[in-house]
Amino acid sequence: MSENKTILSFVQPSGDPTLGNYLGAFKNWAKMAKEYNCIYAIADLHTLTVRQNPADLRKNSRQMLALLLALGLDNEGKNIVFAQSHVSAHAELAWVMNCYTYIGELNRMTQFKDKSSKHQANINAGLLTYPCLMAADILLYKADLVPVGEDQRQHLELTRDVAERFNNLYGDVFTVPEAYIGKVGARIMGLQEPTRKMSKSESANANNVIFLNDDINQIANKIKRAVTDSDNTIKAAEDKPGITNLLNIYCAVTGKTVEEAEKEFAGMGYGAFKGAVAEAVVEDLRPLKAKYDEILKDKTYIDNIIKDGAERASKIAYRTLGKVYKKLGFLPRT
Ligand code: TYM
Repeated sequence: MSENKTILSFVQPSGDPTLGNYLGAFKNWAKMAKEYNCIYAIADLHTLTVRQNPADLRKNSRQMLALLLALGLDNEGKNIVFAQSHVSAHAELAWVMNCYTYIGELNRMTQFKDKSSKHQANINAGLLTYPCLMAADILLYKADLVPVGEDQRQHLELTRDVAERFNNLYGDVFTVPEAYIGKVGARIMGLQEPTRKMSKSESANANNVIFLNDDINQIANKIKRAVTDSDNTIKAAEDKPGITNLLNIYCAVTGKTVEEAEKEFAGMGYGAFKGAVAEAVVEDLRPLKAKYDEILKDKTYIDNIIKDGAERASKIAYRTLGKVYKKLGFLPRT
């Protein structure tokens, strides 16, 4: 039955890909790619809400795409991979979404509150209306399921509300999407600050974030240096954020449950535990990194994939946009 269903997810190419992106999102994208029609893209338009250096943006965009391709998410068969800015229907439907979303709803978004406190000199309109563009991304392709990390849940709920509001006014135009948030890995925290999400924009403390560009030794060392506590029991608990985070990382790479992992590590010291987590992560990432490095060398391959992806995506996106414009009462383009 999932054969005809569509999953869709985007990632911002606003920095180097992190272990958080991989475990919270990409790993699930890859798992689901076999069963569904898949639409994956880099959300380059979204990155403009925070100032970007153009050369870095270009580099990060290719890196992010190389990673998706290394995961097997290419333009073969039912998969479409592209760059959001190559399909102008996103910007067009985002304007419509702007007019059906209330300021009160946007003001309530925790990501807006977070980002506007971090970037006080640049609280631009895009930062506030960011979820309208994200709703457009999802609704253009009639996505059934959107695999994301926990931090995107609120944006998904807003997308559902706006889609339902539009459908109530104009009939059945949009598919109302469901979020797919994995049980483990949905919220990977910083290794040095385990009460805050691991984020690609936070590279102030290099040991806090694992970047997929880090070499294998660096990755293992960062895990071995992760902050823990002085209690020396390996259990997930609210007052043990460091250990909980490492257990989550371990489970996300091995597919084990937290209970299974706690049993496996019962009585073990923190040093040995961190060593085992490091080994599991490194084993999972080693083949992926080798493929990623190889693909990244071939810019033409990456650029051709997204050219083809944009053509295929445009067909679907403009069909939906045409339907929306008609419902709104815009004159037909003859
Ligand atoms: P972005 O680029 O911040 O992150 C990409 C994906 O990675 C997940 N993620 C995490 N998961 C677990 N732990 C973490 N520490 C962690 N950090 C990031 C995110 O939840 C996300 O799934 N607004 C989106 C991009 C977007 C989008 C869309 C997503 C634009 N349009 C349409 C889905 C559908 C974002 O900024 O993700």
